[in-house]
Order: sequence, then structure tokens, then C-alpha cells
Amino acid sequence: MKIFLDTGNVKDIEAMMPLGIVDGVTTNPSLMAKEGGDPRAIIKRICEVVQGPVSAEVVATAWEAMVAEGRDLAAIDAHVVVKVPFTRDGVRATKLLAGEGIRVNVTLIFSATQALIAAKVGAAYVSPFVGRLDDIASDGMGLVRQIVEIFEAHRFATEVLVASVRGPMHILEAARMGADVCTCPSAVVEACFKHPLTDIGLEKFLKDWEKAQAARS
Ligand code: E4P
Repeated sequence: MKIFLDTGNVKDIEAMMPLGIVDGVTTNPSLMAKEGGDPRAIIKRICEVVQGPVSAEVVATAWEAMVAEGRDLAAIDAHVVVKVPFTRDGVRATKLLAGEGIRVNVTLIFSATQALIAAKVGAAYVSPFVGRLDDIASDGMGLVRQIVEIFEAHRFATEVLVASVRGPMHILEAARMGADVCTCPSAVVEACFKHPLTDIGLEKFLKDWEKAQAARS
């Protein structure tokens, strides 16, 4: 399963890349707004750092304007994936952009039928928002299970990109279900590194080693 970082922060991405576990990045208008500055320049820099798929979202809502904005975003860098919200206009824009060979990530997916429609019009990715479903006492990961099942049954090439991730358990469940990608805030990736038994174990190894060295000298 690929891991993407869900952020528009170049410093966060630069800090994580040397670990070798990040395959791409997703942004959205809220994340980009937090960064300030020139969004196109930020997207370009992220593409240079990541050298993998980088989702940049349109803010237009009418299909003609979404297509124009999508073409414009795709021209920033070959790694850009145009992110389009799941609306009637978004679906129409996805069909057109995909027809031009532009990769589209259909976002704000909250039902399996939305994911099915996005796959039918050639989306490269669909982004089910698991955390936001969990927030309203719905089964976010249950939705991912349904989408994976549908895409496997009908051999869609569209990748399931688990989004709105809140913690390591979402990553674990996404991997077990066979999702293609999990996009995570860097804090969630950091949380996967922490285990008290690893810390305790390492401390004991090092103490035992020091004791043996002291006994030899
Ligand atoms: C990713 O594609 C989404 O924009 C993001 O995961 C949304 O996460 P949130 O629900 O934490 O805002």
C-alpha cells in the first residue's frame, strides 16, 4: 500500500522524504490556505521534492471552469493529479480531463455509489473520507471495504485512496482491506514509529552492551 502525506507544508514533506516511505502527497484548498504564499509555486516545489503523485484541487464549481482549472494545474508539473470534488459538474469534468490523459482524484467520496460513478468516468483515484464519516458515527472503513470489493469485482483500474485519516488504526485497516493508498497527516505517520516496548527494548540492549564493555576494560 502506498503512503501519501496529506499536507501542503513543504517543510513537513522535506522532513519525511528521507525515510523512504512517502510515495506521494495530497493537498486540498483548506490545507493550501493554511500555507499562504503562491499555491502554484508550492505545488511545483512539492512535486520536485516528492517525485510522485501530488494532488492539487480545483476550486471552480462549474464543469467548464473545473476543466480549465484542471488543465492549468496539470501544466504545473507532470506529477500533478487534479483533484475534483464529487458533484455532477465534477463528474463531467473528470470524464473530460481523464479523456485528455490528465489523472484525476475524485474527492469528498462518502458513498460506494459515488466511488462507482467516479471510476466509470475514468478517475485515477477516489478519495473516501473515513475520518469525517467516523465523526458522524458512520463506518468510514466499512465504506473503504465496499469500494475495494466493487473495484476488484469489476476490475476498475481506479485506485482507492483512503483520506481523512485520523490515526494509525486507519492505516492498518486500509492495508488489511487492500486499499491502494492511505494519505495521512505527518503526525499520524509519526505515531506509527512509537511503541513503548521498542523504547524499553532498545534501552536494555544498549545498557547490556555498555555493561559488557565496562566488564572487559
Ligand atoms: C485528502 O485528500 C483530504 O483532503 C483530507 O484527507 C481531508 O482530511 P480531513 O477530514 O482531516 O480534513
